[in-house]
Amino acid sequence: MGDRVTDPARAIACETSTPNRLKPPTVRLPKLVQGAGFAVFRRAAMRNWTKQHGHIFEINVPFFGRSVVVSDPALVRSVCTASGDQLINVQPNMSNLFGPRSVFGLDGSEHRDRRRLLAPAFHGQSLNRYEKVIEEETLRESANWPAGKEFRILEPMNRITLNVMLRVIFGADAELERLRAIVPPYMKLGQRMAFVSAPPVWTRRHSPWRKLDEFRRAFDRIVGALIAHAEADPRLGDRTDILALLVRSRRGNGTRMSRRDISDELLTLIGAGHETTASALGWAFERLRRHPDVLAELVSEVDEGGNDFRRATIFELLRVRTVIDVAGRGVSSPNFDLREWRIPHARTVLVRIADLHENPEIYPHPERFDPYRFCGTRPAAPAWLAFGGGTHRCIGADFAITEMDVVLGTVLRNFRLQTDAAADEKSYFQGVAHTPKRGGLVVVNRRR
Ligand code: HEM
Repeated sequence: MGDRVTDPARAIACETSTPNRLKPPTVRLPKLVQGAGFAVFRRAAMRNWTKQHGHIFEINVPFFGRSVVVSDPALVRSVCTASGDQLINVQPNMSNLFGPRSVFGLDGSEHRDRRRLLAPAFHGQSLNRYEKVIEEETLRESANWPAGKEFRILEPMNRITLNVMLRVIFGADAELERLRAIVPPYMKLGQRMAFVSAPPVWTRRHSPWRKLDEFRRAFDRIVGALIAHAEADPRLGDRTDILALLVRSRRGNGTRMSRRDISDELLTLIGAGHETTASALGWAFERLRRHPDVLAELVSEVDEGGNDFRRATIFELLRVRTVIDVAGRGVSSPNFDLREWRIPHARTVLVRIADLHENPEIYPHPERFDPYRFCGTRPAAPAWLAFGGGTHRCIGADFAITEMDVVLGTVLRNFRLQTDAAADEKSYFQGVAHTPKRGGLVVVNRRR
């Protein structure tokens, strides 16, 4: 597939001992113009550059520098299966926002150990336990939805996913009001600043970093008290929340995670784990309003107690409205070879998830919202990459799908969603996630 779209004649042979390796073709525009294309008009700019250069090309943009953009499925597969000795997480990344001890900031054995520690909280038994919490939060939030009046569903979705995450992390009994108040404004500003390298502390007094620093101090104070409480809890061994899991954990040499490590990781899970899922749910209602046939099938399925079609709908939603459109890596080996292409050390590699999801050779009529594509089959990399791939693949993927499944099921069981021919909502880029621009406007009425 890559051969069809990539034009090696445009590429330049590498100055290397392997004469067959080529340098990917380069976008030749001023860095600031490329940066504006990447940051503000990404979809259009990428389509244009892909048309000109094929499914691998190099751009030069602020923050990431010279970056090779890849959307050819075979090449993407090689990126996803590369070892940690070849590719590490992209720099800068979300650890800018969540702290250097966040899983985003780790690589190699530390990264593996952290993922191994967190994994049980996001799979199997744990997911079954969370279903009740998700249903309760959805019922609580939807109790006062206005009947027959249009409203933005993205905001309630954000509250549901934040409350679920806080309960899963800290347990049902913790006092979470302060966190509920300080996290949303932090995330709003933080998403914008996520990839901007933090300036030195003394220059931050009059910048948005000051606000982020203030938030972080408040977060650490609240979470520090919750950690101290957990450390002194005689029932710590029986607790199933994620805070208890981290407080109980010991490294190979028997040492505990420091409070700073725990705080960075908890902020990571709260930050990475709620707005992404809320955005996907916002898109779910945006699409269903405009697709009465899909909605009718979902409603009859929920009434019969099933969820296969709902799962297929979720996979298709995450394809047709990609929430995070790029996954990044940095080359840590002397070179990283992708078939005939050679990418040098320290260069950024950006996998364009949205372009894979819109590839008509994989998905005929890719613009169509068609859950039947995924009936009876589970989507897989590299064609479907909603949660990225490889060593840094989203740790909360199964959690997010379960959460979407339960929220959608609960809403459809209790409300009738009005459908009409409203124009599609455009996509709004918040800095990390893509959300429906008008907040997913819906009209609902209670079913019973
Ligand atoms: C629909 C919802 C979500 C989407 C679309 C999404 C998407 C992604 C993507 C694309 C990545 C980067 C993967 C890569 O670089 O290959 C990622 C990483 C990550 N996500 Fe998610 N995510 C979602 C929900 C969640 C949830 C619910 C959590 C936590 C409970 C979570 C926690 C994380 C973490 C910790 C990472 C970093 C993993 C690492 O670097 O090892 N995400 N996510």
